[in-house]
Amino acid sequence: MTDTNIDFSEAAAPLVEKLLAPALEIIARYPAGRERSALLPLLHLVQTQEGHVSPSGVAFCADVLGINKAQVGAVATFYTMYKRRPTGDYLVSVCTNTLCNMMGGQRVYDELSEHLGVGHDETTADGKITFEHAECLAACDYAPVVTVNYDFAIDEATPESAIALVEKLRNGERPAPSRGARLGSLKEMQHQLAGFSDERDGALADGPAGTPTLRGVTLAQQHGVAVANFNPDTPIAKTKPAREGGNTGNEVKK
Ligand code: FES
Repeated sequence: MTDTNIDFSEAAAPLVEKLLAPALEIIARYPAGRERSALLPLLHLVQTQEGHVSPSGVAFCADVLGINKAQVGAVATFYTMYKRRPTGDYLVSVCTNTLCNMMGGQRVYDELSEHLGVGHDETTADGKITFEHAECLAACDYAPVVTVNYDFAIDEATPESAIALVEKLRNGERPAPSRGARLGSLKEMQHQLAGFSDERDGALADGPAGTPTLRGVTLAQQHGVAVANFNPDTPIAKTKPAREGGNTGNEVKK
C-alpha cells in the first residue's frame, strides 16, 4: 500500500508531485495494516500547499491511504484545525472561553473583529488574516490569550495590543511573540503539525515558568501551604516535536 503504484484520481493529481514523498514518509511511521491512522497528519500535509483541505486534498488523502473520500471528509469536518475554505497567511485566534472571557477576551474578539471587518472563520479581503474565536488555548494563566498560527502571540491581550499585532502582520512584519519561536506562516505551521520537525530558532527554548503560571504556588506559599516537590527554577516541560508517527494531539473537535 505504501509503494508508489497508487492509482491517483484526477482530483488528486495537482498535489501528487509535491506531496507524495512526504505522505509516504508519514504513512511509513504507522504499522502495516494501520495506514489510515496517518490521516490526521496527512490532512495537515495537504494544508501546507493549499492552506485548507480542498476537494483535491480530500482526494489525495483518500487515494494515498486507500480509503474513500467520505471517510476523509468525515474526519476533516470534525476538527477545527482542518479548514474547508481558503485561509489567510495568518490564523489569528482569540480565546473567548471561560477565563479569557472573564478577563476581557470577548472585548478583544469584538473589537478586533470590527477592526478587521470579518467575523469568525472569515478571511480579510487582502487575504492576510483568517480570524476566529477559540475555545480554551491551555494558557488560562495568561488570559486573555491570542494565538497566531497556533503559537502564543499575545499574553494578557487587550484590544489595542491585538489590533497592533494584526496591523504588523498585514504590513509584512513578523513581530516577536510573547513566548516561543518567531511566528511562521500558517502553511509553515502545517508542516510542523504534519509531524515534521520545527526548525525555527527558539522553537524548543522554554525557560522557567512565568509569574502568572506560578501565581497559585506563590499564594499557597504565602499562606503557609506546603507545595511538594516544587522548584520554581525547573524549566517547564519542553514543547516536544510532533510525535513520530502521529498527529500532534492538538487537534480540536468542532
Ligand atoms: S480560557 Fe482562554 S486559555 Fe484557557
